[in-house]
Amino acid sequence: MLTNQINWIKVEIEVPVHDFIQQVKVRAKKLCLIRNQGKLYMVQNTCPHAGGILSGGWCEKGNIVCPIHRYEYDLDSGRGAEGQGDYIKIYPLEMRDDGLYVGFRESLWERFFGKNKV
Ligand code: FES
Repeated sequence: MLTNQINWIKVEIEVPVHDFIQQVKVRAKKLCLIRNQGKLYMVQNTCPHAGGILSGGWCEKGNIVCPIHRYEYDLDSGRGAEGQGDYIKIYPLEMRDDGLYVGFRESLWERFFGKNKV
């Protein structure tokens, strides 16, 4: 069976123990790391609505809220609130002995033809 492969990249950050929202850079990519009610999430940092920076937002009822027009996205599914019709990308995370890792799915196209692996 052909499946997408996940590349795990270490996130160079001391992860706070309390709830927080912070932009992190993983290789050249800016992402948004969140701890909400004790659980860690990694999501895209750019709002799909009009480019707001989600790491400047806040969490409410399990959603990340964009600070620009207050669109909301579910932290588990990435789905936008009712009526928005959009979503954000959620990245898998793994806490290992040596720190936090984020997973990037590599498509078959990237696996066979990509040169710029994340
Ligand atoms: S830019 Fe994020 S809600 Fe509009």
